[in-house]
Amino acid sequence: MYICICNAVTERQVRACVDSGAATLDDLQYELGVASCCGRCAESACSYLPGGACHTVATVALPAGAASEILPASAAQQAA
Ligand code: FES
Repeated sequence: MYICICNAVTERQVRACVDSGAATLDDLQYELGVASCCGRCAESACSYLPGGACHTVATVALPAGAASEILPASAAQQAA
């Protein structure tokens, strides 16, 4: 699905850009050109940013004891 018609920017591109660290509309504008023409896509593009309505964060349920193998000791203690 296109997010920005003016610049042919897709939802997939926006998600990939956010996953690569884009955190502001300026980042998306710089990397993809989104919202740099008519601006109608700005609100939609922002919804993919951290904290936005379309932003997703993957969560993984770890089996008991697995955290100590993955996380630093201090974080593993908090996870237990
Ligand atoms: S639709 Fe994105 S700048 Fe026009």
